Amino acid sequence: MVPKISTLSGYIFEYQKSVTNPTGFWSNLADTFYWRKKYTQTLEWNFEKPEIKWFINGKLNITENIFERHMFHRAEQAAIIWEPNNPEEAYRTITYKELFAEVKRFSNVLLSLGVKKGDRVAIYMPMVPELVITMLACARIGAIHSIIFAGFSSQSLGERIMDAGAKILVTSDGGYRGAKTIPIKQISDEAMESCKCVEKAIVLKRTGENINMKPGRDLWWHDLMATANDTHKAEEMDSEDPLFILYTSGSTGKPKGLVHTTGGYMVYTAYTFRNVFQYGDGDIYFCSADIGWITGHSYLVYGPLLCGATTLMFEGIPTWPDAGRFWDIVDKHQVAQFYTAPTAIRSLMAMGLEWVKQKKLDSLKVLGTVGEPINEDAWHWYHDHIGKDRCPIVDTWWQTETGGIMITPLAGIIPTKPSYATLPFMGIQPVIVNPEGKELMGNSVEGNLCLDFPWPGIARTIWGDHERFKQNYFAAFPGKYFTGDGAKRDEDGYYRILGRVDDVINVSGHRLGTAEIENAIDEHPLVSESAVVGYPHPIKGQGIYAYVVCKQFSTGGEEGIKNSILMAVTNFIGSFAKPDKIQIVSGLPKTRSGKIMRRILRKIAEGQTTDFGDTTTLLDPEIVNEIIKGAEKLK
Ligand code: WT7
Repeated sequence: MVPKISTLSGYIFEYQKSVTNPTGFWSNLADTFYWRKKYTQTLEWNFEKPEIKWFINGKLNITENIFERHMFHRAEQAAIIWEPNNPEEAYRTITYKELFAEVKRFSNVLLSLGVKKGDRVAIYMPMVPELVITMLACARIGAIHSIIFAGFSSQSLGERIMDAGAKILVTSDGGYRGAKTIPIKQISDEAMESCKCVEKAIVLKRTGENINMKPGRDLWWHDLMATANDTHKAEEMDSEDPLFILYTSGSTGKPKGLVHTTGGYMVYTAYTFRNVFQYGDGDIYFCSADIGWITGHSYLVYGPLLCGATTLMFEGIPTWPDAGRFWDIVDKHQVAQFYTAPTAIRSLMAMGLEWVKQKKLDSLKVLGTVGEPINEDAWHWYHDHIGKDRCPIVDTWWQTETGGIMITPLAGIIPTKPSYATLPFMGIQPVIVNPEGKELMGNSVEGNLCLDFPWPGIARTIWGDHERFKQNYFAAFPGKYFTGDGAKRDEDGYYRILGRVDDVINVSGHRLGTAEIENAIDEHPLVSESAVVGYPHPIKGQGIYAYVVCKQFSTGGEEGIKNSILMAVTNFIGSFAKPDKIQIVSGLPKTRSGKIMRRILRKIAEGQTTDFGDTTTLLDPEIVNEIIKGAEKLK
């Protein structure tokens, strides 16, 4: 079992060890896993190049650390409890032994289709156990999985499949999301039209709706599995062989495929899972994130299963059939640890206490949040009404790039403060630097959050574009990994995350690049240019505000064009990226050199009407007054 720290002095002691002798610290932990061949060196790194390697020359398979390692003690224990979208449908309990058998069968299916070690497999599926079976089968045969969140449009899906060069797509006929059915196969079909790399699509039957099966390309999951056998020996992987690619947004329009490798990711997700949530044998752990995002990868699948935990997977949404659904699930399955996003808490809080009052919630021991800053009101509501004043809240800060949790309390061990992610996890060395790159020492400082030293879970590159990896994370402050976040270290040395300092916004816990949304809007034939900024939103954390310059109005007038812009964004990215406010303007505030002054647009979106700082470089200062007037009408 992965070791667990259980006291504050234990944390202080282990943390000290982890920063004074990082290689000794991490190699001790790595030794608690099963390696086919032990690594010969713990770490080699260079943040200038950048190049990061952990557990060098180690040979392993991550699924052997999930299955073979747990088969003796946990064969009959539930690995996954799956709660369907519709509470009337039966839930499923899948034991370690059963999951293992399914993973081996699907491994054989993939092999029979010619998938080899290093090949990419794209996965576009709803939240069903077969999604986990697919990803673990990929890991077992050494194929690199690339999961695309099922809320993305066909355009976005196609772009990601092509970037990864996936030769197989695993998908489903449809998916359920609350009262809606999502036409997953139809979206996949549209995406595959533009991706010539996909040779076969494997289709799981979930909704039973009518779909097109293209002969020679599309194969039913159940047909393939019916004849597949369940003996399979895992492929031997190198520590640094890629495990998966996961796309995330950056400040340019093109999504970045972050690459995570095998050995380091395994050690880091398991160790953080066990310690942050203080997971103990017999606990039922529930992470509400979609597996299409990093939280689902690391803390619904890999971290928990590596620790031999029971992980609860929920297909639906928190507000269907009613706003008490999460709490019904907690009571029904006796959940001990619950991990969700602040946006979910705020939206449930807005629906009133009646949905919480009749619930027991007495099985809960630990509450977690992730993805965005949690405001004090939401923190207190969560603490008082869900945790009933007895459950510690772990506000966990991390990123797709970090692979696992970085700054966080250890539940019940590190004293919490609302809206603070508190202290660094073992091995994590955060530093705060000013815009000139000078490190701000001591407490009570605020600036750009960087990391000074590698940890095993850090992404190794951007798929197909190492130079971009370097420019994005290692160029702003040479020798350091730059997170893109601002942070404050208070008088007690506690960290509070202040939000992104780049052109990335965080909408309902979804990370979006403003450029990505602008590109989608600019595709509209009547739009000549646009600028997108975030603004504070009571539920979503940040809302999306789009300033749009049109060539002319179509027949539908302003409303017509706004609606078709919303459609364009839905088609290009997905409906979760739709602007909350669209303001049609006659021009954008630009400097004489043509640069859009986003600072001004951000302030206007926040409701500010005066004090825009230095505006002397503006080409046309009058435009600002026009935009302020228009913004007031939108309120
Ligand atoms: C960005 C990363 C990591 C899993 C989900 C999001 C923001 C994340 C917190 C937190 C304040 C947070 C940061 C970060 N963020 N956790 N506890 N407090 N902000 O992953 O999509 O890669 O987004 O989410 O801005 O950079 P992601």
